[in-house]
Amino acid sequence: MGEEISTKHPDLNDLGSDVSREFRGRRVRNRKRLVDCRSDIDRWNAPFLAIYESLVPAEEEKAKQKQLLASLEKLVNKEWPRAQLYLYGSCANAFGVSNSDIDVCLAIEDTDINKSEILLKLAEILQADNLQDVQALTRARVPIVKLKDPVTGISCDICINNVLAVVNTKLLRDYAEIDGRLRELAFIVKHWAKKRGVNVTYQGTLSSYAYVLMCIHFLQQRKPAILPCLQGMEATYVVTVDDIECAYFDQVQKLREFGAKNTESIAKLVWAFFDYWAHLHDYANAVISVRTGSIISKRAKEWTRRIGNDRHLICIEDPFETSHDLGRVVDKYSINTLREEFDRAANIMQYDPDPCVTLFEPYVPS
Ligand code: GTP
Ligand code: MG
Repeated sequence: MGEEISTKHPDLNDLGSDVSREFRGRRVRNRKRLVDCRSDIDRWNAPFLAIYESLVPAEEEKAKQKQLLASLEKLVNKEWPRAQLYLYGSCANAFGVSNSDIDVCLAIEDTDINKSEILLKLAEILQADNLQDVQALTRARVPIVKLKDPVTGISCDICINNVLAVVNTKLLRDYAEIDGRLRELAFIVKHWAKKRGVNVTYQGTLSSYAYVLMCIHFLQQRKPAILPCLQGMEATYVVTVDDIECAYFDQVQKLREFGAKNTESIAKLVWAFFDYWAHLHDYANAVISVRTGSIISKRAKEWTRRIGNDRHLICIEDPFETSHDLGRVVDKYSINTLREEFDRAANIMQYDPDPCVTLFEPYVPS
């Protein structure tokens, strides 16, 4: 029991025994569930929007990324004439903050050579062209070549044939087109997660991709809904990738008015997002599913037991790879860290005199 309690927050470490700390945590959670949103919440709209604006990349940055992609494609095509490069991840899904690294996928049909050989060859080609810090990571979970472009100063990861990531990037970008509040909320949540140190998958906390899915799902659940469920509508976009059919309604320009009946402000949504993850989410039984626009049960997905490293302590279904839980990285220690951070954020949004500052105060290890 004792080892299950995170020691991340020093103020929680001197509350007495682990049991009473756990009990106290639950009691506080239950009590807070009854509290309505503070009445002055809309005072924080302008400051939250200002933070969002400060994080949005400038147009020139996009141009530089395209320029780098074009020059990389030229190089790659000398060796593999039919290969194509795609941007994916936050530089292409509308959720990238300024000065982010870019993620590139090399789509190549050459099946005679294996991924490692392609990556090593690619690294050789890039190095010969004076790109900096070129490194082939052939043993990573997603094998990549890393590089830095001395002309634009942009750092870049190139992976091979990760087409599913290109498709889920499009899904996220399409959701972002429907209602501006998604992008605002996700930027604020990602910014919070980075400042609080809970956006580090190798430490057992969640990826940016997982946080964006949490935001989409949350806005699908508002009453009235702010976002539709695109995979529940007539499919206008269908591709099959690695035997997975990816199909959804992508004519999102027709959905611009979808969320208009809901007039919740960004400050209210930030409050409600943290309130949900701190007090309302059923961690024991629930899986959040953007694919169905609803909560589904762990039992229905057979995610009730730990299998290998998949502990399913917080369950976020990938919209296309439905057997994939984006919460799989979370372990019995980091789940406490995460839940403490959700509690802290919910508390700040409810009671702090200056939530736009306190929320993002960097986490300092004791
Ligand atoms: P930043 O933190 O701003 O870099 O956000 P990001 O969206 O680029 O970061 P992240 O490293 O979380 O993921 C890069 C992209 O890879 C995502 O946008 C997804 O398209 C894809 N991706 C990440 N994790 C997974 C995963 O577990 N499964 C699948 N299918 N795709 C993933
Ligand atoms: Mg990225």
